[in-house]
Amino acid sequence: MKMKVIGIDSSPRKNGNTEQMIKHSLKVIENSGISTEIIKLSNYNILPCTACYVCKDSSCPLDDKDDVSILKEKMKECDAIIIGSPVYFGGISPLLSALFSRTLDMRILDRFQLKNKIGGSIVIGAARNGGQEFTSLIIHNWMLIHNMIVVSDAIPTSHFGGIGVASEPGSVMNDEVGLKTAENLGKRIAEVMIWIH
Ligand SMILES: Cc1cc2nc3c(=O)[nH]c(=O)nc-3n(C[C@H](O)[C@H](O)[C@H](O)COP(=O)(O)O)c2cc1C
Repeated sequence: MKMKVIGIDSSPRKNGNTEQMIKHSLKVIENSGISTEIIKLSNYNILPCTACYVCKDSSCPLDDKDDVSILKEKMKECDAIIIGSPVYFGGISPLLSALFSRTLDMRILDRFQLKNKIGGSIVIGAARNGGQEFTSLIIHNWMLIHNMIVVSDAIPTSHFGGIGVASEPGSVMNDEVGLKTAENLGKRIAEVMIWIH
């Protein structure tokens, strides 16, 4: 069966740094014969969870009002997920926060629909110490809470996945160190996918 990785770009900017870095990582994965898709959250209408807990008994009532059911299907169908976020005030983007909240129904009770999917993060901030590592941790926490298999970037960079420092859209392509971490995240995801399947 053909394996697939999706890259979720949670920046509202077109051709932004997050998008560029995710594409850089996905290219490495494609070179291993695994299919990929990039998903731009700003193309979807995503309402945040209202904590109604209707999902304990039936489907999320917001699924009829926005596009999140499409995103949930894409997450369920793939084998690995790269989540990319720009650093906003030391944390994830509001689009990503809204999406994360809406995945409660995928986990609640004993559903765990994302269990055993491989996950990695890519984050970019304008400052060298702008909160990238903390932002990766937020993404990794979401993955752990879904019982996913979290991976970092491959040896020798191996720390927290892809981490970039850039400001203007696309300028991350000048961040050699950051690009290497995105590349190595792709390598590690492909390595673990092939090892598991
Ligand atoms: C609302 C807002 C908050 C931001 N907060 C931070 C921050 O806390 N730390 C940081 O390093 N950069 C911060 N930035 C800069 C972005 O993370 C940076 O420009 C990044 O490259 C944007 O990625 P993108 O091109 O994919 O949108 C912020 C930008 C915005 C718009």
